[in-house]
Amino acid sequence: MDKFNDSLHTITLSEDGSYTAYSKEYEEHYHSTKDGALHESLTKHVVPAFEIQKDKKEITILDICFGLGFNTLATLLFVEQNKITSKINIYSPELDKDLISSLKNFTYPKEFEKYQSILNILINKGIYSDKQFHIEIYLGDARKYIKTFEKKKFDIIYQDAFSPNVNAMLWTKEYFKDIKNIIKDDGVLTTYSIALAIRLALWENNFFIYLNKGKGYRTATLASVSSLEGLKEVDMKHKIFCNPKVKALRD
Ligand SMILES: C[S@@+](CC[C@H](N)C(=O)[O-])C[C@H]1O[C@@H](n2cnc3c(N)ncnc32)[C@H](O)[C@@H]1O
Repeated sequence: MDKFNDSLHTITLSEDGSYTAYSKEYEEHYHSTKDGALHESLTKHVVPAFEIQKDKKEITILDICFGLGFNTLATLLFVEQNKITSKINIYSPELDKDLISSLKNFTYPKEFEKYQSILNILINKGIYSDKQFHIEIYLGDARKYIKTFEKKKFDIIYQDAFSPNVNAMLWTKEYFKDIKNIIKDDGVLTTYSIALAIRLALWENNFFIYLNKGKGYRTATLASVSSLEGLKEVDMKHKIFCNPKVKALRD
C-alpha cells in the first residue's frame, strides 16, 4: 500500500472501507472520505446514470477525469452485476501522467480485483477493447480533449473533477457549453457538486437540473438535456431569486 504514496499523493481509508487518495497538489481527496470512494462512485455517478440509460444497446460515457479510475471500474462492476449486455464505450482524460503509472501500486477494493488486468492494459497502453467494452484514457487536458469529439456523442458524462475552488477550468459556463455540444439529446451528466454556481453554469447552457438524493450518501446533482420523469427538479428560478448575486464560473 505504501508504494503508492509519493511526493504528490497519499492513500487514505474512506468510510466504506475502500481506499482513496489525497492530492497534495490540489489539497483535496479524490473522493468524499465520508461517503466512501466506491460507494460515492456508485451512488453519485454510475447507478443514477445507468438507471436512465441502461436499456440502450450502446452506451458511450465520458469520465471526467480518470483519477484513480473508480468511475470507470465501478461501471464495469455495475454492468457485470446487473447483467447489462449493452456495448459500453468509455473515454476518460487525465492530466496527471505519473498518477496513472502509479495506479499499479494502489490498493483497490476487492470488488475491482477482477478488473486488475483491464486496468494494467489501460495503464500500459491507454486503450482496452473486448467484445463488450472499449475504454480509452487520454493523457492531457480535458478541455482540449472534449473538443475532439463529434456532436452528440455521449449518453453519460461523469463530471468528477476536483472542486471548483481548485479545479475551476472544469466547471465554467464555457466548459459546460463544450460538454453540451457533445452530449446526446437524451444524455445525462452526474456530479457530486450541489453548488448553485455550478448548477447555474449548467442551467445557463439549457440543462435541466435534478437532485440525486438517496439513503447513505450526501445529495448530489443530475443534469440532463431533455426533461426527465420521476426526479425532483431543482427550482433554479427560485434559487436565483433567493441568491441574486450568484454567478456561473467563467473562463
Ligand atoms: C477528483 S479527481 C477524479 C476522481 C476519479 N473520478 C476517480 O474515480 O478516482 C480529479 C482528477 O482530475 C484530474 N484533472 C484536473 N484537471 C484536469 C484537466 N484539465 N484535464 C484532465 N484531468 C484533470 C486530476 O489530475 C484528478 O486526477
